[in-house]
Amino acid sequence: MSSLKQANRTQRGSLQIHEANPANKLHLTVVEDYEQMSQAAGQLVLHQLTQRPDSVLGLATGGTPVGLYRKLREEKADLSQAMTFNLDEYYALPRQHPQSFYQFMKGHVYDPLMPLGYDIPNGESAEVEQECTRYETAIRDAGGIDLQVLGVGRNGHIGFNEPETAFSSRTRLVALKRETLEDNAQFFDHVSEVPKQAITMGIGTILEARTIVLLASGPAKAEALYQLMYGDISPSVPVTALRLHPTVHVIVDKAAAALLK
Ligand code: GLP
Repeated sequence: MSSLKQANRTQRGSLQIHEANPANKLHLTVVEDYEQMSQAAGQLVLHQLTQRPDSVLGLATGGTPVGLYRKLREEKADLSQAMTFNLDEYYALPRQHPQSFYQFMKGHVYDPLMPLGYDIPNGESAEVEQECTRYETAIRDAGGIDLQVLGVGRNGHIGFNEPETAFSSRTRLVALKRETLEDNAQFFDHVSEVPKQAITMGIGTILEARTIVLLASGPAKAEALYQLMYGDISPSVPVTALRLHPTVHVIVDKAAAALLK
C-alpha cells in the first residue's frame, strides 16, 4: 500500500495523522493577481463541466471565489445538468438575511447560472443534528463531490473548520474563532452581529471530494499558504489536511505566495 493510501486509511479510521502526500504532490500554480487566479480557476471548473456536464460541484463563499463565479457567468457555464453543494452556512441567521451564504450563492451562482440542483446547510434548522445528517446523505446520494472549490481563512481554516478540528470530522455545528468573527465583521454593521456558530462540512467530508481546488489571494493568506506547503500536517492548521489528498490544485496569486520558496 502506498504511504498516501496508508495515511488516508489511518486518517479516516482514527485520528492519527502522519505520513502523507509530500507537499510537492500539490499542483501549485502561482499567478500574478486575483484576476488571473479567478481566470485559472474558471478554466478548471469549465473543463470539469465539459468532461462531465452532470458534475457535482462543491462551492465556497467569501471574497476569494467571487471572481471565479464572475468568470463562470461571463463564459455562460452550463450547469443545467450539474449539482452544487456549499461548504457551510451561518447558524441561526435567517436565510433571507443579506449576509447569509444562501443569499451570496443566490446572487453569484443559483439565479444567474441555474444549476440543475443546489444544496446548502440550512442554518435555520431547529434539528441541527438531523440537518447535518441530511446534508451528508444528500452529498452521498448525489454520488459525492467531483470538484470542491475552497478558500482558506487567515488562520488556515477551510469551510468553517477552525484550528484543532479533527481531520475525520463530518458536517456539524461549530463555534467560530475570534479571528474568523473579526474577518467576517466587514460584512456586518458590527462584529457583535456576526453569527458565532455555523454548520460546516467537516474536513473528512471535504477530503472525500475527488478533486480539490484551493484558491488564495492577497498577503493575509501568505502564512496559511506557507503552512500548507511546508508546515507539519496538523489539525492546528486545518488546510494542511489537503496534503492527505491525492489531487489538489492550489491556485494562488503572488501576494499569497510571498512566503513560498
Ligand atoms: C469564511 C468561509 C471560508 C472562506 C474564508 C475566507 O470563513 N467559511 O470558506 O474560505 O471565509 O474568506 P475570504 O475568501 O473572504 O478571504
